Amino acid sequence: MPKPQSLIRPLVRDLHAYVPGEQPKIKGLVKLNTNENPYPPSPKVLAAVKNAADGRLRLYPNPTAQALREKLARLHGCAPENILVGNGSDEVLALAVRCFVEPSRGSSAIFGRQADRAGATVQYFTPSYSLYPVLADIHGAAKNAVPLKSDFDLSGVAELKRGKEWDFKAALTFVTTPNAPSGRGYKTAELEKLCRAQKGVVILDEAYVDFAEENALKLALKFPHVLVARTFSKAYSLCFQRVGYFIGHPELIAALDKIRDSYNVNGLGQLAASATLDDLKFYRANFKKIIATREWLSRELTKLGFRALPSQTNFILAQPPKFPARDWLQKLREQKILVRWFSAPEVSDYLRITIGTPAEAEALIRAVCKILAVSKS
Ligand SMILES: Cc1ncc(COP(=O)(O)O)c(C=O)c1O
Repeated sequence: MPKPQSLIRPLVRDLHAYVPGEQPKIKGLVKLNTNENPYPPSPKVLAAVKNAADGRLRLYPNPTAQALREKLARLHGCAPENILVGNGSDEVLALAVRCFVEPSRGSSAIFGRQADRAGATVQYFTPSYSLYPVLADIHGAAKNAVPLKSDFDLSGVAELKRGKEWDFKAALTFVTTPNAPSGRGYKTAELEKLCRAQKGVVILDEAYVDFAEENALKLALKFPHVLVARTFSKAYSLCFQRVGYFIGHPELIAALDKIRDSYNVNGLGQLAASATLDDLKFYRANFKKIIATREWLSRELTKLGFRALPSQTNFILAQPPKFPARDWLQKLREQKILVRWFSAPEVSDYLRITIGTPAEAEALIRAVCKILAVSKS
């Protein structure tokens, strides 16, 4: 009999999978580790999902999420042909790697020349969304990870040219904007300069953009090689339903559409996202609450000796005082507060704290005070 391991492609055997944040079911836990929205979806969205949970579940959903794409097109001032909906934005990001990047691993003979290697490269800044390198590895693509500046700002095009690490011909470049996990926002004008300089596809991953001062949607409608990725998970309290989408040139969208699963977006997800768009006022009020809590929490953490970085997202990256960040993760967990710590060297001195309700933010501050008080005694 063959050994199961021998049946698996070497690329998959060696793969380090994406590590999602924990979802523990501990009673009373304040969960600030996965950037979920602390507020539930609007009552209208809940009603739409409940009303649809009947005998119709036996039917396939609309294969192209047509009604949802029409509503999104109206919202963004474009055509449904500019929009591709996926099973969360993670799916559309994965589709882009498959659609625009040649796998290169093991084909050094073919990709010996720099020009060809570029066609096989997935490029991104570090730190940014840790899924990008995993998507490249799954596909067998080459990776080009280029550090952000030490304050997590983007380098300008001239600087990138001088630095020589950046590949202006990379087949696919991901930019998380605002950045995760730093929370730093970027100016559309800066992003536009970068987009103009790139020869391959650029994805502006705007998962957190509803909490930011600016968005770069217009670039996806202006340039043929720019796609903007959005999600219903963060600002629209819909992680559970898995709905995300791209906006971009109809020819790129049509190419992506060819390679997706026939029914990639589940029916309840389509309905929930569609009902969300009918109640945007409800969500805009939530964005305001979350931003106000973020600013409050930032000030309170700063008073307690944390270095909280300015954020345009629904989380804060903060460097804690006294103990290493990893110890803080454990100490906070003992106080039933769950935050996120990343081992990557650029961010290992920080904790990433999702913005919860005001009561959750207060609970965090109480726990921090307790930990600091014990350390003094
Ligand atoms: C930058 C970024 N992009 C995309 C996603 C994926 O979101 P979705 O739930 O739509 O797959 C996340 C989720 O954490 C994220 O942080």
